[in-house]
Amino acid sequence: MITKIIKIDEKNLDLQKISEAAQIIKNGGLVVFPTETVYGLGANAFDADAVKKIYAAKGRPSDNPLIVHVLNPGEIYEYAEVPATAEKIIKKFMPAPLTLILKKINNKLDAACKLETVAIRVPKNNTARKLIELTGVPITAPSANLSGKPSPTNAEHIIQDLDGKVDMIICGENCEIGLESTVISFNPDDSINILRSGFITREDLSDFRICDNLITSENPPSPGMKYTHYSPDAPLYILSGEELDIINYIKNESQNKKTGFLCYDEMLQYFTDCGNIIAIGSRYNLKEQAYHLFDALNTFNNLDIDIIYAIEPEKNKIGEAIYNRLIRAAGGKIIKL
Ligand code: TXA
Ligand code: MG
Repeated sequence: MITKIIKIDEKNLDLQKISEAAQIIKNGGLVVFPTETVYGLGANAFDADAVKKIYAAKGRPSDNPLIVHVLNPGEIYEYAEVPATAEKIIKKFMPAPLTLILKKINNKLDAACKLETVAIRVPKNNTARKLIELTGVPITAPSANLSGKPSPTNAEHIIQDLDGKVDMIICGENCEIGLESTVISFNPDDSINILRSGFITREDLSDFRICDNLITSENPPSPGMKYTHYSPDAPLYILSGEELDIINYIKNESQNKKTGFLCYDEMLQYFTDCGNIIAIGSRYNLKEQAYHLFDALNTFNNLDIDIIYAIEPEKNKIGEAIYNRLIRAAGGKIIKL
């Protein structure tokens, strides 16, 4: 398949180009498009054959369902039961980097999800919104990475993985948030579960009662949780300890291994002469770290390295989502210094 790669200015959308992309989706094709979280690999959510092509292009296990993207919150009611708590959350946040798991009221979205529930999100990003509007149908889209790899926030990384496997790649800017949407589900007693942490944080949702059920890989409430995820090609380890100990550890490791290190801006000064060091932002700026995290992990895949180290992040606010992505990318490997 020949993939058409187009560049767009997200601040000044070229409607001709977006219409071309919309036409591809209407005809049953696949289009990669930017959202505010990560890039999505989109198809017509009503078209079962098109949805199958998403699974094939990504190499995604067939029992891992997809998120459906709609233009307006009102459309959610056409497909799903909306409990009172969900309604409050919709009013408070949407459009937002937030995905709701809701009980279906009909079979219209069965192509995207065979379960009794469906994951729905109303994206904020203008390009994504214009594409949904011009397509005139909900667009179902997982993150546009090969299954198991870090999600993409940078179009160049997508071209490396998906060129020849999709009909079109829309190259916009790097996604402004950089981590996938927060996924939440609802309990009959009005409490909610955070199934995947994200930019909308536990603190943001503190008006609501958050159930802190222990989620295990044997009994995952979200099918995607049981699969390996976000793994760069080289093994990743999280370092936990004092900054000086971490710096010394990396300096030492770099002498005999091709070492990649995800550090904070403030640490760069110590590494002028060793390893492949990528600063993901200030130690004090969690949003900056979230924005750069997947880009850095994907960049390491293009470098000749044997091993990657990252620093255990703070776990409050969006740090919870950063930690979640890192610990899964590391397969749980933490080195305590
Ligand atoms: O920010 C995002 O959410 C991005 C952009 C493209 O919108 N999409 C994304 O999709 O991250 P994906 O497929 O990579 O992750 C969707 C997650 C998976 O873990 C999947 O198992 C879960 O949502 N999911 C989908 N439908 C579900 C359902 N009905 N119940 C529980 N979990 C569900
Ligand atoms: Mg994904």
